[in-house]
Amino acid sequence: MTKSGRLKLPKFRLTKVVFWCLLAIPLALLINDIRIELSAPTLGLGADPEDAIVDHLGIWSIRLLWFTLFISSLSRLVKKPVLIQFRRMAGLWTFAMVCLHVTSYILLLARVDLMVILDDFVERPYIIAGLTGLCSLIPLAITSTRGWRRRLRENWKRLHRFVYVAALAAWIHLFWLERATFEESAIYGVILIFLFTERVVNTIRTRKQRQAVKGAT
Ligand code: HEM
Repeated sequence: MTKSGRLKLPKFRLTKVVFWCLLAIPLALLINDIRIELSAPTLGLGADPEDAIVDHLGIWSIRLLWFTLFISSLSRLVKKPVLIQFRRMAGLWTFAMVCLHVTSYILLLARVDLMVILDDFVERPYIIAGLTGLCSLIPLAITSTRGWRRRLRENWKRLHRFVYVAALAAWIHLFWLERATFEESAIYGVILIFLFTERVVNTIRTRKQRQAVKGAT
């Protein structure tokens, strides 16, 4: 315990470096594919390289988002609060991946044409869902530091519930994509339902425990 009464968690410097490297693998794979594509067209990224880049970054955005949510569930299920230390890194990687995904869309698919982006915004509802996801993640990324956590106290937890809005928006984004298969969105949907259910069960359990403690005092 620290002087302030908070639980002191061990520092895993080397594990964190390894974890960071693992999270960087999807991006490294894409960079390698781009390198192959530049020397041998269609070999690295297939017939539609622009689409392939946007899709790769999109699919890894959603995978990392799910993984970030999973870290919290896992830490509760196996009763290992130390795992929470890795959540922030996974969350920041998710945000970076989403930013790269959106940037690749603007540069490669919309070709920095505001009219194309506005047209897509009106004609393709999945873009609105994607933007909702992105906008929900921005305040979380900004306030992810220890300083912000200290300053916001209980509000920090409340604010970070936006991650559920982001996850739901990301899933709707995937579901609405014409090219995503039903199986693909179903798999991500089932995992999300599990992650949400675990949280609801945990909240109910914690409330009951608090009430029991209050009743006993
Ligand atoms: C939390 C935010 C977001 C997540 C998690 C996300 C995730 C995804 C996923 C999983 C796909 C499908 C990839 C595949 O089937 O292989 C995708 C595709 C796509 N996303 Fe996003 N996305 C997000 C935000 C956005 C935003 C803000 C935009 C644009 C402003 C955008 C534009 C696109 C486009 C254009 C495609 C389809 C590309 C194609 O036609 O193949 N996404 N995204």
